[in-house]
Amino acid sequence: MTLPPHERVFVPLDTPDLGRAKAVASDVAGHVGGVKVGKELFTALGPGAVLEITGGNIPLFLDLKFHDIPNMVAGAVGSAVNMKPYMLNVHAAGGRAMMRAAADAAGEAAAKTGLQKPLVLGVTVLTSLDDSDLRDTGIPDPALDQVKRLAALTQESGLDGVVCSGREIENLRAQCGPDFKLVVPGIRPRWASADDQKRVLTPADAVSRGADYLVIGRPITGAADPAEAAGRIRDELAEAA
Ligand code: C5P
Repeated sequence: MTLPPHERVFVPLDTPDLGRAKAVASDVAGHVGGVKVGKELFTALGPGAVLEITGGNIPLFLDLKFHDIPNMVAGAVGSAVNMKPYMLNVHAAGGRAMMRAAADAAGEAAAKTGLQKPLVLGVTVLTSLDDSDLRDTGIPDPALDQVKRLAALTQESGLDGVVCSGREIENLRAQCGPDFKLVVPGIRPRWASADDQKRVLTPADAVSRGADYLVIGRPITGAADPAEAAGRIRDELAEAA
């Protein structure tokens, strides 16, 4: 992939405060690939604020993890395209028909509005769930088996990639081939605290294992100078490339 290394990095704006979100987005723009908006900001501020934050030109990962009947998800994805996301996601556990509906809706909304079709990603198993949590939901297999099964289903359903943990990158890259996008959170430069992330990879390690996009939050958003922290990560990725 020819993407400049720092353009792989998406910074989460996990705040209900519009001023704070705009400040972080403008601090890091140019040092990273884009910003990630999740349920907290979106629910507090809505789609108009998302467009105000990105100005329609900072690449957006819309992390709303849709999971519903196919018709509802298709409608949500169609509406989401108006926020001009570079990528968005749905839960792979929603199944084949739901994922196909999401991919179709993204293509149709993009064609209708003339906007770019976003990459549509599947979320496999939330990394907050361990094998015992999965057993409670009726899935007896180890989490990695379920991740691989749902990644295969995501790919068969015509989606562009998955969100996965650092420890799944190599398995999924081997299974899904070079073009399937792997988006990886839980990334920590060596100089940053691990916070509540239990297993972390450095940005360069994640890329060398095969990640396409990295979600890096608190090492940047919690830094005294977010632009400087983002710049440091950009330089480290460039050195390793
Ligand atoms: O880098 P940091 O841990 O601060 O990033 C937090 C962001 O990454 C949140 O937006 C969260 O949604 C996302 N994330 C995560 N751990 C996962 C999956 C996603 O922290 N296992």
